[in-house]
Amino acid sequence: MSMPEQSLARGLGAAQGAAQGAAQGAAQGAAQGVGHGKVILLGEHSVVYGRPALAAAIARGCRASAEPADVDTLSVQPWGVRLRLDTPESEPERELLRTAFAAVCARYPAPRAALSVQAVMEIPGGAGLGGSAALSVAVIRAIEQALQCNSSDDELIEASLAWERVFHGNPSGVDSAMAVRGGLALYRKAEGLTPVRLGRNLVLVVGHSGEHGSTKSMVESVARQHARDRAKAEQIFDAIAALVNNAKSALERGDHAQLGQLMDLNQKLLNTLLLSTTRLEHMCNITRSAGALGAKLTGGGGGGSMIALAKDRAHAEPIAQALRDHNFDAFVVEVAQ
Ligand code: MEV
Repeated sequence: MSMPEQSLARGLGAAQGAAQGAAQGAAQGAAQGVGHGKVILLGEHSVVYGRPALAAAIARGCRASAEPADVDTLSVQPWGVRLRLDTPESEPERELLRTAFAAVCARYPAPRAALSVQAVMEIPGGAGLGGSAALSVAVIRAIEQALQCNSSDDELIEASLAWERVFHGNPSGVDSAMAVRGGLALYRKAEGLTPVRLGRNLVLVVGHSGEHGSTKSMVESVARQHARDRAKAEQIFDAIAALVNNAKSALERGDHAQLGQLMDLNQKLLNTLLLSTTRLEHMCNITRSAGALGAKLTGGGGGGSMIALAKDRAHAEPIAQALRDHNFDAFVVEVAQ
């Protein structure tokens, strides 16, 4: 989603202040909810067309709390957003957020207590890190706890999808499923998540391009290419699916050299689909020169974030530093089993 964008550093600084507020809420017994952010290791976009994708949850996501109030409200920090369910917003992005909140609230019909929901984003919007889905899941979980509902994971995913459809018409569901379940998994639209066992820990550097990436526009762009030349697009999706299946085996074997090569190949195909940018390509090259085993954009593309695979933890920090030296925000993520 394209809410006011925060740099990772700014977003986190502001998030800490807001998290203190959430902690106070917890001390007073407010209901709490959490949604995971994620990175797509391989397979974004083709996953919308039924192919598999590999995704890993990251520790950062969104936290929310909910308390009884006079009227349903949603606030999101550090975006400085506060809206009422019953009052249309004049600014289009805020009105989309209100509509998404309404889609979720409609699951909990009257009579019920009105709620003030306060969310704290730990990742920026438009970064390709599943921020929108993480926000939806944190909000839904906080509401569920406040109203003492006990939906299943599948029901939570469905509720998150109602929110996601407001922001981008045709989500595959991978972001919502990861925001609910976390972990490392292969996702297919028809089958949902299948957990993947790691041969050894995965260490990734996540770099943010500073450009806002609109998943909606990028998904629509791929749809136009698919409509124009269906055979060519399907061929590219099949090629990406083959990379994803090989990457799953490489992950299970702990063969990160091969995984890195597969990520590089996936990046080439994403570039063919016009999803990369000059900055993302530059960032991939910076990280490869700094020793990354492979690098690619992650998520919707057209801006947002990229990931680089490090040999191990010791090799990750110099890769992140190389990005910071070029004024890109970067952080290290370790995926363990
Ligand atoms: C966004 O994180 C991943 C995309 O494949 C869209 C989707 O799966 O809904 C670009």
